[in-house]
Amino acid sequence: MTKPIYVLWLSQEDVIAAGGLDMAATMHDLERVFRLHAAGDTTLPEKIVMGWQEAPANEQANHINIMPGYAGGDMQALGLKVIASFPRNPYQHDLPRASALVILHDTQTGLPLAVMDDTLISAMRTGAATGVATRWLARPDVQRVGLIGAGVQCRTQLMAVKVARPSIQEGALFDIRRPRAEAFVAEMNQRLDLELRVADSAEEVVRQAEVLVTATTTVHPIVEHGWLTPGSFYAHVSGYECEYDVIRHADKIIVDDWQQVKHRMYSTVALMWRDGLFTDEDIYAELGAIVSGQKPGRENKTEITLFSPIGLGLHDLAVAQRIYRAAQAQGIGQQVKLWDKPQWM
Ligand SMILES: NC(=O)c1ccc[n+]([C@@H]2O[C@H](COP(=O)([O-])OP(=O)(O)OC[C@H]3O[C@@H](n4cnc5c(N)ncnc54)[C@H](O)[C@@H]3O)[C@@H](O)[C@H]2O)c1
Repeated sequence: MTKPIYVLWLSQEDVIAAGGLDMAATMHDLERVFRLHAAGDTTLPEKIVMGWQEAPANEQANHINIMPGYAGGDMQALGLKVIASFPRNPYQHDLPRASALVILHDTQTGLPLAVMDDTLISAMRTGAATGVATRWLARPDVQRVGLIGAGVQCRTQLMAVKVARPSIQEGALFDIRRPRAEAFVAEMNQRLDLELRVADSAEEVVRQAEVLVTATTTVHPIVEHGWLTPGSFYAHVSGYECEYDVIRHADKIIVDDWQQVKHRMYSTVALMWRDGLFTDEDIYAELGAIVSGQKPGRENKTEITLFSPIGLGLHDLAVAQRIYRAAQAQGIGQQVKLWDKPQWM
C-alpha cells in the first residue's frame, strides 16, 4: 500500500519564521553536534569542491561545495548541503556571495523530508561555531570585539560572539569597502545595542580586540604578527587571512575538523601544513573535544587562542533539523508532492 509522498519546502522567510535567526538556539544545535562528532557518532565525508573557472587576479574563484553528512544520537539528521560561492555577486548582481540549499532525508526510509533555504542557516551556523568557540576560548570578561569584513558572515559572527560574551559593548570593524563597513555598523549597533565604530585599518581593529574575527574574501593575509594582544581570542573564519607568524605565535590552535581543514586546503593553517610548516601535532584540539570536556579550553588570561573552522555540513543539518521540526509543528512552509505512487518499486 502506498500513499502520496510530500517534501516540505521552506523559503528563507519560512526558515526565519521557524526560528532561523535564533542564535542561542543555533549555538545549542552546534554544541550538540560537536559532541556527537567528538564521540564518533557522525558520518562526514570530505566536501566536494567544484570550481570551473579561473579566478580573476587577486580574487577568490566561483565554486560550488557539496557537503553530505549524518549526525546520530538523538539528533538523527541525514542529508546534504549545496552551497554556491560567487564572491563578486554583491558588486555585480546585487546578490549575496553565497546561496545554498539543504536537503534533509529520513534516517529510516531515506526519503527526502524537506528542502530549505540554507543561505541563512549557513551564515547562522558559521557564526554559531565561533560563538561556541568563544564560550570556551575567550576570556570571560572581554569587552571589545574586532571585526574584519563587513559581509554576511561577520554579521552572524558578531551575533554569536555577543551571545557567548554579553559583556562585549564596543569594538571596531574594518572593510576595504568603507560604505559596506558603515552600513554594517549602523545595522548591527542597532540590532545588538553595541557601540561599534568603523576603523581605518585592519591593524587598528586587531590591536584593540579582545575577540577578533576575520571573515573576508581576501586572498592575501590581512592580520600581521605582533598585532594580537595577549589574552585575545581570534576566530579566523575564511581563507589565507593571516601571516604564518600569527599562527606560529598563537598558544592554542583549534579547528572544527582537522581532516576537513586539510582537505579543503584553503585556510592559513592548511597552507602552512601543505608547506611543511605545521604538523598534525600543532593542532591543540578539535572544538568537539573541548565542548565535550576531553580537553580544557582557555587556561589562563594571557594565552592567545585561535579558532580556524572550515565549516561542516553536519552543522547545517543540525540546524535544519530543528527548523524542520519547528516548521512542522507550526504549519510553516509548503508541501510539495514528490509522487502519488512511485512508478516502480
Ligand atoms: N569557515 C567557514 O565555515 C565559512 C563559512 C562561510 C563563509 N566562509 C568564508 O567567509 C568569507 C566571507 O563570507 P561572506 O559571506 O561574509 O562574504 P561577503 O562577500 O558578504 O563579505 C566579505 C567582505 O570582505 C571584505 N573584504 C575583502 N577583502 C578584504 C580585505 N583585504 N580587508 C578587509 N575586508 C575585505 C569585502 O569587502 C566584503 O565586505 C568567504 O571567503 C567565505 O568563504 C567561511
